[in-house]
Amino acid sequence: MQKLRITAVNVCRFVLAATFIFSGYVKAIDPLGTLYKLKDYAAAMSLNGLLPDWMLVGVAIALGALEFALGVFMLFAVRRHVVSRITLAFMAAMTVLTLWIFVADPVKDCGCFGDALKLTNGETLLKNIVLAACAALVAWRPVDMARFISRSNQWIVRYYTVAYIVITSVYCLYTLPIFDFRPYHVGMNIKQGMEIPEGAEQPEFESTFLLRKNGETREFTLDNYPDSTWEYVDTRTVQTKKGYEPPIHDFALTSCDTGEDITEQVLTKKGYTFLLVSPRLAVADDSNFGDIDQIYEYAEENGADFYCVTASANDEIERWRDLTGAEYQFCNADETTLKTMIRSNPGLMLLKDGTIIDKWSHNALPQTDDLTAPLQQLTIGKAQNDSTTERLLIVLLTFFLPLSALTLADRLWAWSKWIRNKQSNNRIFNLFKTEKKMRKKIVAGNWKMNMNLQDGVALAKEINEALVADKPNCEVIICTPFIHLASVAGVLDSTVVGLGAENCADKAKGAYTGEVSAEMVKSTGAQYVILGHSERRQYYGETAEILKEKVDLALANGLKILFCCGETLEEREAEKQNEVVKAELEGSVFHLDAEAWKNIVIAYEPIWAIGTGKTATSDQAEEMLAYIRSTVAEKYGAEAAEETSILYGGSCKASNAPELFSKPNIDGGLIGGASLKCADFKGIIDAWKK
Ligand code: 13P
Repeated sequence: MQKLRITAVNVCRFVLAATFIFSGYVKAIDPLGTLYKLKDYAAAMSLNGLLPDWMLVGVAIALGALEFALGVFMLFAVRRHVVSRITLAFMAAMTVLTLWIFVADPVKDCGCFGDALKLTNGETLLKNIVLAACAALVAWRPVDMARFISRSNQWIVRYYTVAYIVITSVYCLYTLPIFDFRPYHVGMNIKQGMEIPEGAEQPEFESTFLLRKNGETREFTLDNYPDSTWEYVDTRTVQTKKGYEPPIHDFALTSCDTGEDITEQVLTKKGYTFLLVSPRLAVADDSNFGDIDQIYEYAEENGADFYCVTASANDEIERWRDLTGAEYQFCNADETTLKTMIRSNPGLMLLKDGTIIDKWSHNALPQTDDLTAPLQQLTIGKAQNDSTTERLLIVLLTFFLPLSALTLADRLWAWSKWIRNKQSNNRIFNLFKTEKKMRKKIVAGNWKMNMNLQDGVALAKEINEALVADKPNCEVIICTPFIHLASVAGVLDSTVVGLGAENCADKAKGAYTGEVSAEMVKSTGAQYVILGHSERRQYYGETAEILKEKVDLALANGLKILFCCGETLEEREAEKQNEVVKAELEGSVFHLDAEAWKNIVIAYEPIWAIGTGKTATSDQAEEMLAYIRSTVAEKYGAEAAEETSILYGGSCKASNAPELFSKPNIDGGLIGGASLKCADFKGIIDAWKK
């Protein structure tokens, strides 16, 4: 069942990753296309003009970059919690949006995949429902996503991805989209693109006629059209079948000088034609008009035609002529067609025999140095080979290859670190095997919420007496509920039995009803406090940050700390115990300096072993404690690690204590249930004598 869940989460994660990388990339390489789509949506919501175009371009770049980055982060399982939640929120919002476009039909194409893949509104809705379900599953269990790169190196993926996609997007905005998915791509013969193949499905229309007679108006079809005594009023025609739509169906040029349709003339011209495309001259960038004029002169000299194609009216054309000294011919075409033809305003297109052989943004026009001979002799005048594969390769080499290399290096690094740790642990083991006595051996009882005051004091007395009579060869501590502390302190011989609380507040003092401060604990005579117990984390929501406050306050008040850490059964089954324990230490105690660290005792208590009767095997416990010690060594050095007492807790009894305590890294136990009876507790303490 668990395996199935993990597989499902990872399948969903890869589906989301692939979709987001694709949809983000195609948006990012075509920021103007995304901007046009955003404007379609804004118009449908009557929000047109809310933001200026330059801001919308920023939104378009950010949207593409966000989707792409979410996809890559999902793929590499970077920041799993945050990324999966943002993805879910994103998918939820998109599903609502597409439900709206499905029902109200305000835009024809959702624009999810730019021009690369067009879906109907129904298909989009279905796709988003599936993706939202995937996102929900991943957000439910983000830690099931297997990591390819260790956490410490993930920042490289994060920064590289964001920088890569933003730079790509800005580059494409400055020049032209790296991949052109529109029908007017290089290599397309416009005339052929407009042809309807023989036998293709024809669109079908149905007309109804409104006719009137004697004041009565009725609807008729061709089948029941009445006699001439009826007077015609109106015709309504609806398309009943879509039919075949050629890739180019909206290309028509009208000369601004003569008003003639020159489409055929341009498309059948033998030789070269430059089309300077500007959907709107009023907002066209005029900074490169010098280059444009020179290309026009070059065209004139070399027998090539040159037209400026625009949707602008005459006054705008005149303004442009005045501004740039343009002498070329102008013709009109549909604005949307022009926006589709080239993502630059203005942009330049070169046709040879009606086929598009090159396209340039106004920022990257051919320079006079490039135009030194007739076009047929220049590279730009030759039909280019399809370079899609080449460009795909560049993307793979510049993005995925470095990240794959990083993944490989990271895995090698993690593997070598593991080997080094193992070796250093072995060195530490050997050291501890001989010098274990250097560290304090401790048996601590945690009474939890048991014993009323009278019973508690009686038990403390009994333990005290037993240990005074038969001195332990380890340190013994009993940790009791707050209300026992002062009374129990009164009956203990503090040279034989130490006293601790089970908790303290994360605030120093003040209006915190029901809380007990570290200072109050200290004032009872207690020397210790347990912090970070899994029951407090689990039932009382104690987070790493809260525990950090408690740790600082306890130390500030002169208390020593028994700091607990440990993983759940699920985390162990997912082999995450090291990660979990390290994070708990890093989150709450590793901020301490070396001096303060001397007051910390660590208790490793696997949650699955607490109060369950299911003890970790002595080897499992030893392995974890050795790992914890190596983590302490990494942080505070081998000497400090050697002096840190690390206890095991979880169903520890007199029967299994000798075996556990015989392990080189186990310095004692934190005992729950078995500390509530003097004989049981003493049995564990005596394990140190065996
Ligand atoms: P048990 O010994 O009852 O399993 O409890 C362990 C514990 O939680 C000590 O803090």
